[in-house]
Amino acid sequence: RHHLLSVDQFTSRESVEELFRIADMMQPIARRQKISRVLEGAVLGNLFFEASTRTRVSFGAAFCRLGGSVCDTTGFTFSSMAKGESIYDTSRVMSGYVDAMVIRHPEMGSVAEFARATNIPVVNGGDGPGEHPSQALLDLYTILTEFSRLGKLLDGSHIALAGDLKYGRTVHSLMKLLALYRGLKFTLISPKGLEMPESILEQVGRNGHVIEQTYSLEEGLRGADVIYATRVQKERFAEEELGGYSAEFQVNKAIVDKCCGPDVIVMHPLPRDSREGANDLSTDLNHDPRLAIFRQTDNGIPVRMAIFAVLLGVETLVPHSLRDVTW
Ligand code: CP
Repeated sequence: RHHLLSVDQFTSRESVEELFRIADMMQPIARRQKISRVLEGAVLGNLFFEASTRTRVSFGAAFCRLGGSVCDTTGFTFSSMAKGESIYDTSRVMSGYVDAMVIRHPEMGSVAEFARATNIPVVNGGDGPGEHPSQALLDLYTILTEFSRLGKLLDGSHIALAGDLKYGRTVHSLMKLLALYRGLKFTLISPKGLEMPESILEQVGRNGHVIEQTYSLEEGLRGADVIYATRVQKERFAEEELGGYSAEFQVNKAIVDKCCGPDVIVMHPLPRDSREGANDLSTDLNHDPRLAIFRQTDNGIPVRMAIFAVLLGVETLVPHSLRDVTW
């Protein structure tokens, strides 16, 4: 069995696009235009040791729409890890109860530890500030779908990543996945202290992409084809580290109009922070067609169905040509 732990498992754009062809085939089931029961009798274990709405519910809904059922455990309090049980024991025990697991955990590398202890497929639903591979896959699927609608190519385009690039696991996975394409220009816009980790810059830089870092949102967004805003992960560091963070980093209608054309797409993995003083993405773009955030969330279902189809080897859903997907 395979796991999905990191986007590093995808070594070519072809391997990702094969998965997206399966996601395309899942669209009628995701939209309930077609019924499938291929996972009837199968059980998904959703183990979330951190808060989640989208990842937990959409993985669960994807499994149910394919005929399976879901057992959810949310937070440390409701698992016996609160009594000191190890990742190894938890994973071994769950392997006897369910057919696949989606796990979110606050420590980087912890989901891989779950995977090493089991022989059932494990999906990384976010491991601390590490990775969030299924989010990056649905983000890339969204970008390709939007670009196809706009008649644009991803190769050679300008991607602006803004916000907390240090602790934001979605941007870590997305930047590495995008690097499978050719000739991209990345602008990385973050407050001081929240820059993209050096290891990711080195990995992406080796593929010959242009990478520019700036602390000015206006400078970084100028001419972008995709704006990807992120929330500051305040739960992952002390308030004093915030330093230069301010309203200057908010993606809103005024700055999008000033810096980008009518074809830009504005994305965010969500949740966006709607509390007083939060700055990631304004609601004043809510009715602007350039805002793709809810098309992004909708794409989570077919992409996650495709992940299950491959990981669980659902032969009726995976065409012969795609059965050798190596990840
Ligand atoms: N994008 C994302 O991971 O959202 P949740 O935290 O709600 O799962």
